[in-house]
Amino acid sequence: MSRLTKPLLLEGPAGVGKTELAKTLAAATGRRLLRLQCYEGQDETKALYEWDYGKQLLYTQILRDKAAELLADTATLEDAVDRIAGADSAFFNERFLAPRPLLEAVRSEEPVVLLVDEVDRADEALEAVLLEMLAEYQVSVPEIGTFVAKAPPYVVLTSNNTRDLSAALKRRCLHLFLKYPDADRELEILRSKDTGLDDAAAQRLVQIVRGLRGLDLRKAPSISETIDWARTLAVLGVSELDAEVLDDTVSVVAKYERDVQRSRDALPRLVDPNATVPASLDHDHGHTHSHGSHTHGGHTHDHEDDGRRVRAAKDAPGRHDDSFGARGGPAEAPAAPREVRSGQGARSFAPNRGSARRRPV
Ligand SMILES: Nc1ncnc2c1ncn2[C@@H]1O[C@H](COP(=O)(O)OP(=O)(O)OP(=O)(O)O)[C@@H](O)[C@H]1O
Ligand SMILES: [Mg+2]
Repeated sequence: MSRLTKPLLLEGPAGVGKTELAKTLAAATGRRLLRLQCYEGQDETKALYEWDYGKQLLYTQILRDKAAELLADTATLEDAVDRIAGADSAFFNERFLAPRPLLEAVRSEEPVVLLVDEVDRADEALEAVLLEMLAEYQVSVPEIGTFVAKAPPYVVLTSNNTRDLSAALKRRCLHLFLKYPDADRELEILRSKDTGLDDAAAQRLVQIVRGLRGLDLRKAPSISETIDWARTLAVLGVSELDAEVLDDTVSVVAKYERDVQRSRDALPRLVDPNATVPASLDHDHGHTHSHGSHTHGGHTHDHEDDGRRVRAAKDAPGRHDDSFGARGGPAEAPAAPREVRSGQGARSFAPNRGSARRRPV
């Protein structure tokens, strides 16, 4: 990537380390990390630059006498306005520019790593704004001119694939699809995080999480959840992973009620594939009815199964893309601001859009 100097677009399920990769790239190259976190309704002033209106106002206040002097010999209002307009460049110059990440990346003296995180959450309008930056490493400010990067930044974009990105954006990037790592690599990552869980348990945990990923879950557990689970178990002082303790803590990795239930059902089998599952732990609603009675502790598995189906029907994945095992909300923030769907785009196209640029002094 560093040789090709093309932006890198990382795609993959939530929590596989897309953001982490950009941070690591910055750390490894000793570059400053600039981050543009994208969200719905974000407008370009948060991505490119804003005019520092407060500072402009302060300067005009301080310079009031000077302005009066300048206008002293004007006879009409039109003349005065013309005279002021002539001084535009004094107020629309770099001094009053408040750079946001894209412009900052371009203006930086030292080369930086620019992370455009979760670009799929941004509106298409913002995506269009990104194009100039991605292709040319430059940002145009109409009142001043075009800033071209002195040293091209490394640009990393991440996407959870909640919507298709435009072909124009894709064309400008190199693509990398991050998948769940293999067991050895995941164990290595787990070790590097000093979770406090002993090695044998960590090894088993990785296998169990991999087993859970094989289930039909709405949000498959990712690396970050493996890490969280390991930390939780370590805090609880667990060294022997049995079905019971995993059952108690599985909600650390399963973020939907349906997923918790399915994971619990599968745990005894994942913990010990060869064991004949004791009746008391058998959540595995039987394909064979050979255990005879369906009632254990007073509930029937068939009814549970029905309930699950009803829930499953209600739990229809909204904007999730099953091809990814989907994102129900970011792993770190389950109360995801993704629901703010209704106003999408509205703010970007609101009448005051861009007004910050042309605000009169
Ligand atoms: N491959 C990895 N190597 C090291 N740490 C990882 C890796 N994957 C995930 N992690 C850990 O998991 C956490 C979450 O990862 P990260 O935020 O990078 O995921 P993401 O892919 O950006 O997810 P999202 O799509 O939800 O933003 C990180 O804090 C990091 O500690
Ligand atoms: Mg991320």
